Amino acid sequence: MNIRKILSELTLREKIAICSGRDIWHTKPLEALGIPSAAMADGPHGLRKQVDSGDILGMNEALAATCFPTAVTTACSWDEALLESIGQAIGREAAAQGVGMVLGPGVNIKRNPLCGRNFEYFSEDPLLAGKLAAAWIRGMQSTGVSACLKHFAANSQECKRFLSDSVMDERTLREIYLTAFETAIKEGRPGAVMCAYNKLNGTHCSDSRWLLTDVLRAEWGFDGLVVTDWGALNSRIKGFQAGCDLAMPGGVAYQEAEAEQAVLEETLSEADVDASAERVLSFVQKAMRLKNEPADLEAHHALACRAAAQSAVLLKNDHQLLPLQETAKIALIGHMARELRIQGSGSSRIRPWKLNNLCEICPEMAFAEGYSADGSTSEEMIQKAVQTAENAEYAVVVVGLTEREESEGFDRKTMVLSEGQNHLVEAVVKANPNTVVVLLGGSPVEMPWADSVPSILYMGLPGQAGAQAICDLLFGRCNPGGRLAESWPMRYEDCVSSGYYGQKDAHYREGIYVGYRYYDTARIPVRYPFGHGLSYTRFAYDELRMENGVLHCRITNIGEHAGSETAMLFVSPENSVYRPERELKGFCKLHLQPGESAEARFEITDRSFAVWHDGWVVPGGWYTLSVGDQSLRVFRKEADFTPDEPAWYRHPSAKPTHDDFEALMGREVKESTVCKGSFTMQNSVMEMKEKSWVMKLLYRIVRKTVMGGPNAGKDETDPTVRMMLETAAGASLGGMKQNSGMKNYLLEGMLEMANGHWINGIRTMCRKWK
Ligand code: BGC
Repeated sequence: MNIRKILSELTLREKIAICSGRDIWHTKPLEALGIPSAAMADGPHGLRKQVDSGDILGMNEALAATCFPTAVTTACSWDEALLESIGQAIGREAAAQGVGMVLGPGVNIKRNPLCGRNFEYFSEDPLLAGKLAAAWIRGMQSTGVSACLKHFAANSQECKRFLSDSVMDERTLREIYLTAFETAIKEGRPGAVMCAYNKLNGTHCSDSRWLLTDVLRAEWGFDGLVVTDWGALNSRIKGFQAGCDLAMPGGVAYQEAEAEQAVLEETLSEADVDASAERVLSFVQKAMRLKNEPADLEAHHALACRAAAQSAVLLKNDHQLLPLQETAKIALIGHMARELRIQGSGSSRIRPWKLNNLCEICPEMAFAEGYSADGSTSEEMIQKAVQTAENAEYAVVVVGLTEREESEGFDRKTMVLSEGQNHLVEAVVKANPNTVVVLLGGSPVEMPWADSVPSILYMGLPGQAGAQAICDLLFGRCNPGGRLAESWPMRYEDCVSSGYYGQKDAHYREGIYVGYRYYDTARIPVRYPFGHGLSYTRFAYDELRMENGVLHCRITNIGEHAGSETAMLFVSPENSVYRPERELKGFCKLHLQPGESAEARFEITDRSFAVWHDGWVVPGGWYTLSVGDQSLRVFRKEADFTPDEPAWYRHPSAKPTHDDFEALMGREVKESTVCKGSFTMQNSVMEMKEKSWVMKLLYRIVRKTVMGGPNAGKDETDPTVRMMLETAAGASLGGMKQNSGMKNYLLEGMLEMANGHWINGIRTMCRKWK
């Protein structure tokens, strides 16, 4: 297919038209030219291909596929080869179903433990997130299927996700929030990037030429397609100018007409439209070459099991309680042992083709439910659990975040595990001190019982083979090799952004001090630090040395079990430029038999020491490089510079104030307010309803519609209902105008009425109606 020739045969209108989807999952075909439409489907921990009714919230059935562990789990593997295999397996399943692009991986930074979508993301550290994403992309694209890296950029909260503005200084943006994308793009070369719903420093990501062209294409060399998140296009004209190519799930007629007019009036260059249309067709061309071979689902199930086992993090293991003897008498306690929580809710929800729970896999263990699906318990349930635990040598209690607490579309309210589950763990460990807690969930939780429970095994959301993996780990058939990819604070209040996270506009007051960068530097004790994880074996580090810009370290398995170790390289500066106490600059996963040694290697480059200061610069001075318990110092000679940072950032302690943030930004930063009289099309029904009864009425209509149909009988705490309400009533009126099919004059009239201009509102409705 000669794309340039095809473009020369299309009218301007046709070129604009192919830059938006035909429907929720397809590009538009050009039938007269014999060009089919290309299919897309959600990921990232499996394939969510819908054949009948499509939706972005994971409600309607998808084809059965392998449900791998979600990113929160696989990130703990720190294993690029594993991520590559998973990407490849999902790619094979996609190719077998004729899907040309899988929407993933998600590489947003885990800024705060309450973000509802943290389970889909890898880490609080940009290097780890970027490298793992790159590996996944390489695996996927080896099958011919394009990966779509998302959500670009600074999309680290679900709260008001369609309206939110992420406000931060450029150093924070570059060093933390863009680095993961930069690494994944340079090392993974994804076919597509998905621009996020939010604004970045006041500009919609879909409108930002700086983000989508200057940084993404010109600086990082990205040559693929930019796709909007579903419904994220703000303006078709600005989108073309920015380099935002494909509007999904479809275009909006009036916006496309405006774009056509703008080309005729020469305020939009036709070359921008051509460039986007060319990139859409290049993707279609790639999708046309896919080979439709069946995927080996059994092999993928085995891979999902290996991934869950190798990613599991042994948080605690006093007196080597684990592994257990296969012949031991064990009590298995907890609703989740029967209904394992394997993944999160929302667009990434996979329909697993095979699924076992722990009760089926371990039928010899005596079972007690302990708590109900919603995490609540009763005295009777506790009594039964206690009795079952007392009659066994060991108790294994499976607890975790429930479906209702953790989902795309909204954030968690608290870091506390349900009261019923906490109560259960405390009662069981009192009845039987040989208790192992198996913890599930996509984000850290507070663990008031952590000191009294001898062993804690964190599985994250382990996918369809999770139960088998847990069983293999408990009995030592495999050895937990996972290390935490995020810090686990003692309590939510210890998290730097706890006092101001969860507002409509996300003010990144803490700057670069995210996760361990904050806890280490501000000396805040955590429950489990970034990188923590125990093993059934032990490792020794020695011979750390630098040779020709490569750091080497020898690692030996000095225990009795085969196992894997993740060597991590941290760089700590000794100069005065403000920066975290230490930063991860490399990692290396090794699998070692007892007595075996291997060498971890880390490439050291300027970037290992650099900070962003109108470009990457290396502050001169001494640096300590540490790997395990080994360290060495290196000196970097470079022109000194003294950035003028405000006091809190030089020595972070306690929490930054709004004034600290304004000092960092070098300008006034307004808190966003929603005021009757100045509501605009950028406000949502949800936020205006408290102040206007017209909007309250509109909200009631939306709510009634959402609570009907397939949701009839559900309550508002159901994750699907919450997500749908947030999507329908939480979008801006402008977004509603584009995506809901509601007539513009109705929305504009209602907006005027909500602002108190009743007569004008009625006039607008009548005039436009006519
Ligand atoms: C999500 C994306 C997803 C898309 C399509 C959006 O709401 O943010 O991650 O890929 O829907 O389902």
